[in-house]
Amino acid sequence: MRYNGLIDKYREYLPVSDSTEIITLCEGNTPLIKADNLARKLELDCEIYLKYEGSNPTGSFKDRGMTMAVTKAKEEGSHAIICASTGNTSAAAAAYGAKAGLKTYVLIPDGYIALGKLSQAMMYGARVIAINGNFDNALDAVREISKNYPITLVNSVNPYRIEGQKTGAFEIVEALGDAPDYHFIPVGNAGNITAYWKGYKEFFNLGKSKQLPKMMGIQAEGSAAIVKGHKIDAPQTIATAIRIGNPASWKQAEAARDESKGTIDMVSDEKIIEAYNLLASTEGVLAEPASCAPVAGLIKLKDTIKPKSKIVCILTGNGLKDPDCAIKYAKSPVEKTTSDIKDIVKLMGL
Ligand code: F0G
Repeated sequence: MRYNGLIDKYREYLPVSDSTEIITLCEGNTPLIKADNLARKLELDCEIYLKYEGSNPTGSFKDRGMTMAVTKAKEEGSHAIICASTGNTSAAAAAYGAKAGLKTYVLIPDGYIALGKLSQAMMYGARVIAINGNFDNALDAVREISKNYPITLVNSVNPYRIEGQKTGAFEIVEALGDAPDYHFIPVGNAGNITAYWKGYKEFFNLGKSKQLPKMMGIQAEGSAAIVKGHKIDAPQTIATAIRIGNPASWKQAEAARDESKGTIDMVSDEKIIEAYNLLASTEGVLAEPASCAPVAGLIKLKDTIKPKSKIVCILTGNGLKDPDCAIKYAKSPVEKTTSDIKDIVKLMGL
């Protein structure tokens, strides 16, 4: 039977009824790639899996939450949606907004969103408003606007977003036959770590898994509010997707960490870029910089990992979202020559 998106697949665990009109782009059902080359390179006697959320229809995990949030907005009679975004949420909101026929407004920090994401929101027909401020300022603004005007907020403070995103945990449990031992995930606004932990707990309570994973949240050093224990007024990181100084789901992320006996740690931009290159060159997997933070986190914490463990890293967004970064940090440069075969062969060293 044709796969028809995650609400259709997991409807018994989601807040929909038989009469709900589902807004879907067939999101979810993403690959869980076994990363043996990476395990060997890290000298880790473990099974590492990469949950490649970049293969969602708009290229990030946000589609999981957005199918739910937009489905419910439509069901509740809303005509417009709004979000603040570092890029991926805006792309997903714009796409699902287009599919649902809703007016979509997205607020982004001017100059700090990757080009792929910006081009998506523009193409899907959203009103793209770039503010002279960061993500945290944009989130404050859209919270206020949605309170005062008939516009549905579709950031992850909307509980339907979390409902949709928890299905990532369901897919992992189904693919591995149990929850993994460790779940590494980037932390920005902290919705996704909240959602995965909810999903793992639900499947555990239903007897579908025998264990719960340790939740290993990874922030970027310049934006590591939770790790440092205070808000960051001017967050910085090359991983613009997680350039956030005051995560909305801060408390829930701490609860996931504490209940699972996991950790929330941070990695430098330099280590993120190392992981970015390593993933692409050893596994053939290009994920955007923020998505490589969990891999950098795994490298940082590898001596604390029990041998023979199963480890899942959530690669939240597609590397093609941020071509500027790829071209800037790729290890191998473009080599130029003439169209003469002799010159080409000479350059190749044959
Ligand atoms: N990875 C990517 C690629 C993201 O786009 C985000 C968040 C995260 C990780 C962090 O997830 O916020 O649930 O902790 N991006 C949001 C956006 C903020 O606007 O696209 P989180």
